[in-house]
Amino acid sequence: MTDRGGLTLYDVTVRHQGPFGPVTAVDGVSLEVPPGTTVGLVGESGSGKSTLARAVVGLDSPYAGRITVGGREYRGRRAAERRRLGRQVQLVFQDPDTALDPRMTVRQSIAESAGAFVPLDRRSREQRIRQLLELVGLDAACADRVPGELSGGQRQRVAVARALAVDPTVLLADEVTSALDVSVRAALLTMIRDLQRRMGFAMLFISHDLAAVRHVSDVVAVMYLGRIVETAPTEDLLRGPRHPYTRSLLSAVPSLHPGRRQAVEPLLSGEVPDPAAPPTGCRFHPRCPVGPARHPGREVCAARDPQQDAAGQPHRAACHFPYRADGVHPA
Ligand SMILES: Nc1ncnc2c1ncn2[C@@H]1O[C@H](COP(=O)(O)OP(=O)(O)OP(=O)(O)O)[C@@H](O)[C@H]1O
Ligand SMILES: [Mg+2]
Repeated sequence: MTDRGGLTLYDVTVRHQGPFGPVTAVDGVSLEVPPGTTVGLVGESGSGKSTLARAVVGLDSPYAGRITVGGREYRGRRAAERRRLGRQVQLVFQDPDTALDPRMTVRQSIAESAGAFVPLDRRSREQRIRQLLELVGLDAACADRVPGELSGGQRQRVAVARALAVDPTVLLADEVTSALDVSVRAALLTMIRDLQRRMGFAMLFISHDLAAVRHVSDVVAVMYLGRIVETAPTEDLLRGPRHPYTRSLLSAVPSLHPGRRQAVEPLLSGEVPDPAAPPTGCRFHPRCPVGPARHPGREVCAARDPQQDAAGQPHRAACHFPYRADGVHPA
């Protein structure tokens, strides 16, 4: 993998301390988000998406592997530099209310963001705040309000303005639209995409909303039980998913395949296995519609962990019996 300077993860593993022992929430993930592009990260609840994002910003558990931001690794360097590089990565998540102090005005919240404006005098600071509010489509008068006086969509815009105040290299968006009414989601997504075009940050966009992912992502990565099982340019992935897990995930969203009247794949059945004791071989095999449970002779799925296709290919899947891009299963 070549490091082009946005966000790169090399073989990143994160373990949590669960009630019954360690849980490997992220297991050997490699991923590249070049500057100015968005990678959408999807997968069922518990697959490790938030854990991955939190590892990137250095929250909670330490990780194994390597993470670089703007071409530089920020672990192990001197504390001052770690802080500086850390500022280059900003995380915006689902609930703007936990990100914004209810007693602070919007002005204070933005100004406080990672000490972004320390070198600026009062007038330039005020100007910068106005610029940022304008950037996220808010009226300058919002600066004097507290979060309780704003709508959910406006609060999320403030959270974005706050993240962008430091001109980040990487923006991690974890379910940023989930708490919002459907009517304001599209506007926020369009805004984020436009901001990215203008500012050029790399974005990891985590969402359960596949239509939103499609709207903003250049590439989509699909996560299952701590692993990335498929990666492809967005339209390739949506039109020709190769991993049976991806197909099942997509078939739950009929609006993504307007031409088709019924689900293309049986909907996902069964529970997500306990990540503390993942299945052997391919982790998806007990639930897989084309795996050994339904097709004798595919014992390899339970025995051997499938590797992703060669790095460097745009469309990669980690499956012993992947679908062809035209939707035909080879068996
Ligand atoms: N702080 C923690 N301590 C222990 N286990 C954790 C912790 N945070 C997450 N986990 C476990 O790690 C796994 C991955 O969780 P994570 O929150 O990263 O998933 P997710 O993909 O973001 O899910 P969702 O779509 O629901 O947000 C889960 O099994 C979860 O129970
Ligand atoms: Mg999450």
